[in-house]
Formats: sequence, structure tokens, C-alpha cells
Amino acid sequence: MAENVNENIIDPFGNSVITDYSKVISQMRLKPITESILKRIKNPNRYLRRDIDFAHIDFDKFLDAIEKKQKVAIMTGIKPTNDFHLGSKMTAEKIIYFQKEFGAKIFYAIADLEALVDNGISLEKSLKIAIDNVADLLALGLDPKNAYIYRQSQERRVMNLGYLFSRRVTTNHMKNLYGERPLGLYFAAFTQAGDILLPEIKDFDGPKMVLVPVGLDQSPHIFLTRDIATKFKDDFNFIPPAAIFHKFFRSLKGETKMSKRDPMSMLTLNDSPELVRKKIVSALTGGRKTVAEQRKLGGIPEQSVVYELLYYHFMDDDKKVKQIYDDYKNGKLLDGEMKQMAIEIINKFIAAHQKKKKKIYPIAEKLLLSD
Ligand code: TRP
Repeated sequence: MAENVNENIIDPFGNSVITDYSKVISQMRLKPITESILKRIKNPNRYLRRDIDFAHIDFDKFLDAIEKKQKVAIMTGIKPTNDFHLGSKMTAEKIIYFQKEFGAKIFYAIADLEALVDNGISLEKSLKIAIDNVADLLALGLDPKNAYIYRQSQERRVMNLGYLFSRRVTTNHMKNLYGERPLGLYFAAFTQAGDILLPEIKDFDGPKMVLVPVGLDQSPHIFLTRDIATKFKDDFNFIPPAAIFHKFFRSLKGETKMSKRDPMSMLTLNDSPELVRKKIVSALTGGRKTVAEQRKLGGIPEQSVVYELLYYHFMDDDKKVKQIYDDYKNGKLLDGEMKQMAIEIINKFIAAHQKKKKKIYPIAEKLLLSD
């Protein structure tokens, strides 16, 4: 993987590149997810177990609040610009896990205002995408009875909070966090701060520990929101939100600089079986030039996006995934075989998912059309 990048780039509105996660942790003063954190959780999910959720801010405080039986909430969001892709699936599975594991209430923002200012997608168009996205979320297992799912454009309280927050933040502060950007993106950032602090207002039972599970690209928003929580402490008694961050996975072609806007570079939960096959057949492997060489030297699992798909997204059984790693590294499992396995597993997953989604679609429509 000859890559010329040796710098970490984190951009919530563009493409992020991370070359060294441990550097990120120290430079950004995040904390790693350690054994002592994992010990406090009964059934850690695979993202926690496999160091995919690799860093956090105040997750320990969130666990304190759980242990003391204090009020907590989980908050995250999605920008409704396209079909549910594997990054959205990962965030969704994380919040579903927290809902089940801790009984926590979930707040899920549909960032249609962000889609409008960042991507120029009209509210009318993003509503259709949002309904489809929410159907995916419900089909993956979110219980809508213990959740609040809303569109930013329909949630006055979020906009009013964002508007108010802008009062105590200077352009310099914004430039430091985001660089010089069109003002619309700053608007989106204030709106997101409104999302994240919404669970702490009186209407939702006041201040509480809020955990935000997101990709690392969202970290500037977390920092902004924590600053705002402190600046408005006297007004709302906010507790600064906690966050856990997941690593990025590579595009199917293996680029670390993955374009969020290129549909062929990733899988979505709406892909047909043929499309899944097509995408995986052309995905980057960790194979050698010839079969003989691969039998002799073994493959390089760390380089294979096909392995990464199983490891991150589709294979929950730690033993099975380890077996695949070993077999591939020892030259026993070849690329064609691993691809075939991935195609079967993923298509089976998507077929079952689509079946559930179809059934649940009317609930998604009702949720968003009545807000
Ligand atoms: N900005 C997020 C994205 O690009 C979406 C989002 C909106 C969000 N509000 C949020 C994420 C609040 C976490 C918390 O996907």
C-alpha cells in the first residue's frame, strides 16, 4: 500500500485520512478504549471488542452514571444523502446495542438541514431518503418506543438552541475547529450542537450524561458542543457530552482516503445481489501474484478489504473470524474463496434485512411524516 500520506486529516464535511490512530489519540487528547473500560461492560459488542471503537471522551463518566443508575441518553444522527451504507450500519448497530444493553433512550437526528447546506439536497428530496434510512435503522433492530427520531428542519428546539449557541462562539473559534468554511457549514455545526444537547433540556427531563457514538470525522463537532455546554452551563446546567469514536474502514478499492460521495466505493444495504457480487469481485485483496506463491507465502489479511468487511461488518463470531485470518495468512484460504464466502454472507444478510425492512417501512413513514 504505497501511500504518500503521513498526516492525519479530520474533516466532518469532507474526506478524512488517518494514518496513525495512536497518534490521533495523543494529539487530540482522546482516551483509548482499554481493558479496564471493557471490564465494566457485560457484553461488549464487536466494535468494542475489536478496537474498532478505539477512542473515547468521558465514556468512563457515562459508565459511572449507568452504574449509579443516573439518567443517561444516547444521541447520534445521519445526513440523509444516500442509501444506508456500512458506516451508517455501524453507527446504527452501536446505538441499538446501547439501547439493549443499558435500556438507554436513543435520540436520532436526521440532518436534513446539513444535507441542504452541505450537499444542496432539498428538504423534499432528503425526506424520501430519510424514510428509507429510518426503515433500515428499525430493521436493524432499533426499538422506536424508546427513541426519539426527528428531522432537524422540523425540530424547532434544535434550531433555537443552535441559534442561541452562536451567540458565544467567535469566527476564530470556528476557524480553528473547521478551517474557513462557507457559513452554511458553520450553521450545520451549530445545529448539530443543538442536536447533541437537545436530550439535556427541560422538555427531555433536564441535564444528563449523553453519549454520542460517531466516526472520528465527527470529533470537531464533539469538541464544539463540549465548549458550548461549558459556556452555557449557567443557563442550562449542561453536562458536556461523552463520545466514542470508531475507526474508518477503507473503500472497497482499498483507499484510505475514501470518498463518501462515490457509491461504487462502498456497499449499501440496498445493493442487489449482483451489485454486491460485482463490488466484492473487484475489491482489494491481500493476495500474492500467483496461487503457488500465495500457497507458499500466505496472504496478507491486513491488506485485504474483503477480510476487513467480515471483521468490521459481517462476522460477529470471534473464533470464526480468527480462523479466517489464520487460514488466509497460512495460504490455506485463497482470495477467490474468501470473496465467495463474503458474497454469500453479505447477500444472505441483505436479503434477511430487506425482508424485515419491507415490513417495517410503514412505521418509518409514519414516524417521519407526522413530525
Ligand atoms: N453530521 C453527521 C453526519 O455527517 C450527522 C449528524 C447530525 C449527527 N446531527 C448529529 C451525528 C448529532 C451525531 C450527533 O453524518
